[in-house]
Amino acid sequence: ALIVPFYGVKQAGITTAQQERMMFASLDVTSTDPKDLQFLLGRWAALAARFTAGKSVSSSPDDPAAPPLDTGEALDSGPYSLTITVGLGASLFDDRFGLAGQMPAALEPLGTIPGDAVLQPALTGGDLCIQACADDPQVVFHAVRNMVRAARGTAVLRWSQLGFGRASATGAGQTTPRNLMGFKDGTNNIHADDVPATSEHVWVGDETDQAWMKGGSYLVARKIRMEIESWDTDDLDDQEKIFGRTKVNGDPLSGGTEFTPIDFDKKAADGTPVIDVRSHVRLASPEANGGVRILRRGYNYTDGQDPETGKLAAGLFFISYQRNPHTQFKVLQSRLGASDLLNEYIAHVGGGIWACPPGVTAAGDWYAKSLF
Ligand code: HEM
Repeated sequence: ALIVPFYGVKQAGITTAQQERMMFASLDVTSTDPKDLQFLLGRWAALAARFTAGKSVSSSPDDPAAPPLDTGEALDSGPYSLTITVGLGASLFDDRFGLAGQMPAALEPLGTIPGDAVLQPALTGGDLCIQACADDPQVVFHAVRNMVRAARGTAVLRWSQLGFGRASATGAGQTTPRNLMGFKDGTNNIHADDVPATSEHVWVGDETDQAWMKGGSYLVARKIRMEIESWDTDDLDDQEKIFGRTKVNGDPLSGGTEFTPIDFDKKAADGTPVIDVRSHVRLASPEANGGVRILRRGYNYTDGQDPETGKLAAGLFFISYQRNPHTQFKVLQSRLGASDLLNEYIAHVGGGIWACPPGVTAAGDWYAKSLF
């Protein structure tokens, strides 16, 4: 479908079949007037409703004596399955807006996690986030650009990221894409159409301490830089051992084809486990983590070349959705950060957590309306 419905009880862009392109933006609110914040969340809802339907900022004619209402670069594009997902960061819940008492416990900072301690402040956190995904790069850029423009006087861009290829499959029937290490990524992901799994692991339910988040989800982002040059010198056997899967087909090393369940108990003739005890799939698996799962929805990224080293600055812009980052993302990342063989080739450089409230249900409703 070219148009993903915008209005609904859940925000689109979470269990929506993953699109090919993404722009992610983090903003800081500069105004201290709660009315400005509410107006912005309303304006964003109105803009998101229009952009996801393939429309421009306004149907009014432009005034030749004023800047055009829409920046124009997506005028002939169409919607391209655009989704816009908005989240609120922990830093928004302070005395500026009288929201200190309404911060969900699940949004509390995650603290220091192994392998995750060196996030750069300039690429981390933010009061608000926008995740725009579509099957066209100009459409996602246009959406974020015009939402940032609409925030003028109330909020400013803190950092942003373009993603150029989906690095996860989120729908049955969607082929598994590849990350920049060349491996299929998203095989054992939660699939959007697996309703029991999304209600158990993705959508916030009655357990929440803040009713306004019921039906929402928590977004964790990590900009994960890959040491591409050293990865490219690693031999195939070692690359496959690191993930526990074959490179070309994504088959578990314990046998079978891509979607065959991984046999973690299988031993080689010498008694060592076929799926290495420090392999990524073992450490991240529900079997090793008391059943914990997350919905991964990341993108490959590149920022071109690192000016200091001349190396490719590229990796995975990891995004996951879950009911509670403390009992889900943090559990997995603690295990991965401590032991994952992959750590030799990656570094977490930025990211954050945001609370994505339930969906905007109709014109006149807006993001997190019940919070105010
Ligand atoms: C599985 C790549 C970071 C959680 C996988 C797979 C690959 C992969 C190739 C196997 C195929 C699949 O089932 O999707 C990567 C790369 C990363 C990265 C290249 C960093 C650059 C992370 C992080 C987390 C995570 C930070 C969470 C904290 C998972 C989970 C699975 C998985 C839950 C499924 C395990 C299973 O049940 O089989 N990843 N991953 N990954 N990854 Fe990652």
